[in-house]
Amino acid sequence: MSQPTIESILSENRVFPPPAEFAQNASIKSLEEYQQLYERAKADPAAFWAELAEKELHWFQKWDTVLDWKPPFAQWFVGGKINISYNCLDRHLTTWRKNKAALIWEGEPGDSRTLTYAQLHREVCQMANVFKQLGVKKGDRVGIYMPMIPEAAIAMLACARIGAPHSVVFGGFSAEALKARLVDAEAKLVVTADGGWRKDKIVPLKDAVDAALEDNGAPSVENVLVVKRTEQKISMESGRDHWWHDLQPNASADCPAEPMDSEDMLFILYTSGTTGKPKGVVHTTGGYNLYTHMTTQWTFDLKDTDVYWCTADVGWITGHSYIVYGPLSNGATSLMYEGAPRPSNPGCLWDVVEKYGVTIFYTAPTAIRAFIKMGEHHPNARNLSSLRILGTVGEPINPEAWMWYHKVIGGERCPIVDTWWQTETGGFMLTPLPGATPTKPGSATFPFPGILAEIVDAEGNPVGENSGGYLVIQHPWPSMMRTVYGDDERFRRTYWEHIPPKDGKYLYFAGDGARKDKDGYFWVMGRVDDVMNISGHRLGTMEVESALVSHPAVAEAAVVGKPDEVKGEDVFAFVTLEGEYEGSETLVRELKQHVVQEIGAIARPGEIRFTDALPKTRSGKIIRRVLRSLAAGQEFAGDTSTLEDRSVLDKLRGSS
Ligand code: WT7
Repeated sequence: MSQPTIESILSENRVFPPPAEFAQNASIKSLEEYQQLYERAKADPAAFWAELAEKELHWFQKWDTVLDWKPPFAQWFVGGKINISYNCLDRHLTTWRKNKAALIWEGEPGDSRTLTYAQLHREVCQMANVFKQLGVKKGDRVGIYMPMIPEAAIAMLACARIGAPHSVVFGGFSAEALKARLVDAEAKLVVTADGGWRKDKIVPLKDAVDAALEDNGAPSVENVLVVKRTEQKISMESGRDHWWHDLQPNASADCPAEPMDSEDMLFILYTSGTTGKPKGVVHTTGGYNLYTHMTTQWTFDLKDTDVYWCTADVGWITGHSYIVYGPLSNGATSLMYEGAPRPSNPGCLWDVVEKYGVTIFYTAPTAIRAFIKMGEHHPNARNLSSLRILGTVGEPINPEAWMWYHKVIGGERCPIVDTWWQTETGGFMLTPLPGATPTKPGSATFPFPGILAEIVDAEGNPVGENSGGYLVIQHPWPSMMRTVYGDDERFRRTYWEHIPPKDGKYLYFAGDGARKDKDGYFWVMGRVDDVMNISGHRLGTMEVESALVSHPAVAEAAVVGKPDEVKGEDVFAFVTLEGEYEGSETLVRELKQHVVQEIGAIARPGEIRFTDALPKTRSGKIIRRVLRSLAAGQEFAGDTSTLEDRSVLDKLRGSS
């Protein structure tokens, strides 16, 4: 069983204290030290964050008000002027870090590049000047649709430098998905590449951009900047498309960072919710800079000698906060890898660890389960002794995978930080601190200092020990999302009204269920809404349903997550067809391909089952819990009294 079932987690009582020598050398050295820090922050969160903001970041101008909280809208460091690109680059240039590696990049075919802080600064300035030349001004949105190459980070930092919010779209999303995001964000410029390497094949990114922009598909887009990566043939539309290598040589490397208001928008990042339309999560500058800076520093116990590697893609929040902004703001060396384990080299990640002497390795449970499947002879054949901290994110980690990670990758010496957070939270919310927190396999342990996390019932009352409930945050934090782009109401509805304010206190509802054990450890159980978690990626059931019903053969569709050994969950779709169509293998293939086209390969249903009716309530709502049991191959044992037509159940069991 790959998902942490209640049983496996309840029976989990192993505790792993930080190794003594590790704790001695860590910046936060004991549980007591963490607790003191936590209590101090809790007593006055604004004062806690203000002190760190002053000490850790460069401000062009200091703020007037630390926190302005008009629920559900928070503003941090109001009146402060700051630039995150300055904090990630310029301020390191006056120190010895000027010539330290900022980015180490390894391409899938084996090519590589290292950029020092001085070199990265130079390229960011050049790209920022090219953006200006292409008409991008402060406040204009820029779409970034890139492979994992240094220019992806360069483009983000160039946007931040001139105050143009970026909207990075994961390179695995389809042209349709890209188009919807460019339209919603009204992007003026798109930065892309001819292609990227993915499992020995080329992902044709520029072709997808062309398809998204076809027939004036995203009318706000005026220009496309193209980085040459794979060198396959692409078409360039004159006047609209520009090669980076043509413009870079003449671009000045002098581009002072724009002093931004702390609350100016830094980026929009789209994520799935419970409706068909992905929402644009808005993050702003000062608070996000501070929070990603502090969480990176303390959770990974950063040292200047570290080679830090987060295996996420920059298209996700993990890449934003923990490949680019958090590490660079700290002056760390951040490794970027374009490739993924593939048949031609299943052990490639361990080659990278060995080649660069990676010290901190941060990945997802789904990847760990895939490593287990590929066999421990791959990591065992490499020297992984440089590693000192391991991290995990994206979904609850099953204790079995945790133990394997601890033994086989960590050699039983590396603390594991299981970080629970979300696109919306900007940074880690629950996480061990490696020198301080005794860990329990499968638990994200405790809240980060300054984070007031609780588990409550539907009325907002805290639940007792080991009772399941909703995971909420009771006080604003610096990197919280500010709104849904262009839709304040959706922001309010989704996150702040699900659980009613308690004693006048607004509760941020994350969408996850969790419990706390007798020692106060948090155990996150997974989503309690109609959001699936496929290989650590969030996908709305409605989003896939919308994609399916946009196919002419489909009358109705209901999508649920089905437990999967490696992915955690897989997409399972129940489909009713329009009268003239009949279910067939060919149609199954066609529908799967259709979903890939509408959203991207991550949404491809593992299974599609045709049925002539779906279980619904009298008011017409699809009862997904019935379908979830069926998809999991279990008999449905719950209450079916709300089911409108009970014969549907028998039909669903029978049809296949
Ligand atoms: C959802 C957020 C944050 C970066 C990756 C995903 C699940 C994330 C954990 C964890 C249990 C986790 C939650 C959350 N999740 N990390 N350590 N333990 N669950 O970001 O796409 O915004 O998804 O991922 O369900 O709500 P995201």
